[in-house]
Amino acid sequence: MSERIIIKGGRQLKGEVSIGGAKNAVLKLMAAALLLDDICEIHNVPELSDVQTMIEVINHLGVKTEYKPSEKSLIINAKHITNYEACYELVSKMRASFIVLGALLGRCKEARVALPGGCAIGERRIDLHIKGLEALGAQVKIEGGYVVAKATKLVGAEIHLDRPSVGATENLMLAAVLAEGSSIINNAAQEPEIVDLANFLNSIGADISGAGTSEIVINGVKQKDLHSTVYTTVPDRIEAGTYIAAIVATRGHAIVRNVFPNHLSSVLSKLTEMGATTTIIDPFSIEVNCVNRTRAADMVTQPYPGFPTDLQSPFMSIMAVSKGISIVTESIYENRFRHVGELRRMGADIQQEGNHAIIKGVKFLTGTQVKASDLRAGAALIVASLCANGTCEIENLHHIDRGYEILEHKLSMLGANITRVVDDVSGVDAHIQSNSPISQSYEV
Ligand code: EPZ
Repeated sequence: MSERIIIKGGRQLKGEVSIGGAKNAVLKLMAAALLLDDICEIHNVPELSDVQTMIEVINHLGVKTEYKPSEKSLIINAKHITNYEACYELVSKMRASFIVLGALLGRCKEARVALPGGCAIGERRIDLHIKGLEALGAQVKIEGGYVVAKATKLVGAEIHLDRPSVGATENLMLAAVLAEGSSIINNAAQEPEIVDLANFLNSIGADISGAGTSEIVINGVKQKDLHSTVYTTVPDRIEAGTYIAAIVATRGHAIVRNVFPNHLSSVLSKLTEMGATTTIIDPFSIEVNCVNRTRAADMVTQPYPGFPTDLQSPFMSIMAVSKGISIVTESIYENRFRHVGELRRMGADIQQEGNHAIIKGVKFLTGTQVKASDLRAGAALIVASLCANGTCEIENLHHIDRGYEILEHKLSMLGANITRVVDDVSGVDAHIQSNSPISQSYEV
């Protein structure tokens, strides 16, 4: 089976869209549940292929899970951990599964996790994770493509991260929860997903303060102090930012609901600079309106609270049709411009020089066949197609399905002309799935 999304562009998006739980938060909450010798229940869990992969990862460790798609809830029972290994097959499918390293080490004092390697967008090193775990007293070796970590006990330490890595901050927080004494992570990542992880961990009995700032303090607690919880995942600011970009690119007028607007401050301020109007109409809703063609703007991706790298590509699609020249600098990843070639095929005028992209806005893009090379590159192509003249066919949907739940449904509700086509590779049985949820429901 191969799947394509077909978009007939040029419709202004109007109405309302509701945002789901944050992929990049919930995957970490699922790893955090490994610390708990009890059951926990997580709500606002989006139905995404990455969530399914993480379910497989923790099931493989002996953990029982039950996902209820209709309630978007996930029950995790980690009473018995029977295996300390996250295998290459799963980690290579989704590098976020590397996060089980800190939790397994914290709970079992032993872990064997496949090295994730690089990926389409960059080298994605893990040196800071390893240095930090060693500082907490673990012996870490790389053996046959696996990170093998052991400790007789973990002891709190002061750790300075050379850069505010999201994953390293999370792995170290997880490992430090059950360590003896206090740990301090300096130059910690400050992303809302880090705060969500700390809030979840505190809700099961951990003692963490400072999450959301550059200094996080984790006072170690005992396993017996941890207890069951019911917890709701934070909204997905990147999904929200992608819909906001789509509304602006189509010069639409719509409300984005179930968001925390303050998580999008840098994004909203960039849109104001570009001439769109965004209004926080209540604590969880943003009204987006764009009447005229947007103006060019420069943008540099940065760790939170800077402009998120995960929204660089959808915003480049807006810049592609904005008036004037925009310069985008990608400062987090070495290779996150793989959407540029595809946008050019749609008529964009973009020149890439190292980690800079110089975008000369054109009046309109034109629909054609394009391929998503990774999740957010796929998001850029969706945004570009929605505002393009003519019909666009987007391939490689498995990337997009990792992070956008019922995308066609949500966009259709906003008035987009969007269809998912499922082709039988034999060519015999092609059929159309219009306005239907993209993920199949699954039972665990
Ligand atoms: C998280 O990745 C997100 N993934 C990414 O989301 C996001 O782009 C990124 O944070 C930055 O915001 C998940 O949460 C699952 P990092 P992570 O560690 O944790 C370098 C998406 O589209 N680095 O902050 O891997 C690394 O090479 C994605 O949803 C080291 O050098 O991000 C990279 O260039 C993709 N050594 C940069 O830091 C290390 O030990 C940022 O990495 C760790 C990282």
